[in-house]
Amino acid sequence: MADKRLGVGFIGGGFIGQFHVRSWVGVRDADIMGIVDINRDTAETAAAMARELGVGEPAIHGSITDMVADPNIDAVWIGTPNFTRIEVMEEITEAVIGGKGELTGICCEKPLGRNVAEAKEMLELARKAELLDGYLEDQLFSTSVQRGKAIIWARGAALTGRPFLARSAEEHSGPHMPWFWEGELQGGGVLNDMMCHSVEVARFLLTEPGAPRESLIPMKVTAHTSCLKWQDPHYVEHLRSISDGKLDYASRPAEDFARGLIEYRDEEGKELIVEVTTSWCFVGAGLRLSMELLGPEYSMSINSLDAGPKVFFSRNVTGEVGEDLVEKQNAEMGLMPIVADEEGEYGYTGENRHMVQSFLAGKRPEENFSDGVNVTELLMTAYMSAEQGRTIEFPPPELDTFIPAVARGQWNPNK
Ligand SMILES: NC(=O)c1ccc[n+]([C@@H]2O[C@H](COP(=O)([O-])OP(=O)(O)OC[C@H]3O[C@@H](n4cnc5c(N)ncnc54)[C@H](O)[C@@H]3O)[C@@H](O)[C@H]2O)c1
Repeated sequence: MADKRLGVGFIGGGFIGQFHVRSWVGVRDADIMGIVDINRDTAETAAAMARELGVGEPAIHGSITDMVADPNIDAVWIGTPNFTRIEVMEEITEAVIGGKGELTGICCEKPLGRNVAEAKEMLELARKAELLDGYLEDQLFSTSVQRGKAIIWARGAALTGRPFLARSAEEHSGPHMPWFWEGELQGGGVLNDMMCHSVEVARFLLTEPGAPRESLIPMKVTAHTSCLKWQDPHYVEHLRSISDGKLDYASRPAEDFARGLIEYRDEEGKELIVEVTTSWCFVGAGLRLSMELLGPEYSMSINSLDAGPKVFFSRNVTGEVGEDLVEKQNAEMGLMPIVADEEGEYGYTGENRHMVQSFLAGKRPEENFSDGVNVTELLMTAYMSAEQGRTIEFPPPELDTFIPAVARGQWNPNK
């Protein structure tokens, strides 16, 4: 048992901030002691949730600098939109380097940056401020992924050889806030938003337990992107209406479907394949995560919508629209799955426990900003491949300065 508790401050108390607060009931040796959000009501909501769950007594701070200066805060979690990454990180590191406060560690939500230059800047700033850094890729810490990987490697791989193919997908019916849909603000479309998870969890499943990331060498990337649903005039209108006319998917869409194939080699030169697909046009019960791991004499499969209880409501049960059964829920009637422990099943509880334990032990987390940079490099190579319609050798030249056409407002597959 650690003799010190970690005081954690959240930057951003919106959708993901509140997911983290809920996950905290499964996190030991740390309390949520501060929240900053440019929207004070949102900060109040997240703070009230923390108090109600008994996971901290957060102060609401007027600025990031004030929160860093609070002696109750030892580490901060960044959960603000993608387009704020650098400004938020600069304010944190300026406060630390300027001696306004002391921090042990910092965690940042996915994606680490909208492109490789931003992701590398995040890593560089963390190093300058001498902060331990954690990259918040929750899916690696999902209870199903952790248990499935351990058993596959201990039984199947130990006796018959390593796995050679990992498949991974994340799909739902579209993001909840307008900024996610805007290529420039978010960094891309669904490829940037969700393939970051799939690429990393598939790489993790294929990596021998305890082996470093470098034991898998990315060789080539092939990808495809499309806008399958949201350029239809009906949906163009819908997006316009939820964004005060700002989103125009008729002329400035982002991809709502992406697939990718990454060819790796292991240390013995054996070929390994990662196959990923992701979309914002899956109208099923709700968010669906699926993973598969295949080897010579075994396989594993995970489907987050198949893991828990199912309920059935007849057409006479006309309750309110909600997300009480599953994230991104699309219906309240018929046969529906319940994801009973979303925080554990998606990995938030496990990732936050890992980050807290690493910071308390003075160690760099196993999933850190260097991993966030590597993921961004793979995603940007995938955009290059989709734009050029060919397989790209990794790493391609000019990766560090590449910005996808969709993030420059210059991607329109129907023109
Ligand atoms: N791990 C996952 O599966 C997952 C899921 C959802 C979102 N995310 C990531 O989390 C981040 C936030 O997403 P979200 O869904 O919570 O978005 P959101 O828009 O729901 O919430 C963002 C919050 O940040 C606040 N904010 C904006 N700029 C700020 C600033 N400069 N300083 C302080 N607060 C600020 C907003 O007021 C809002 O409350 C994104 O980077 C997203 O990619 C990760």
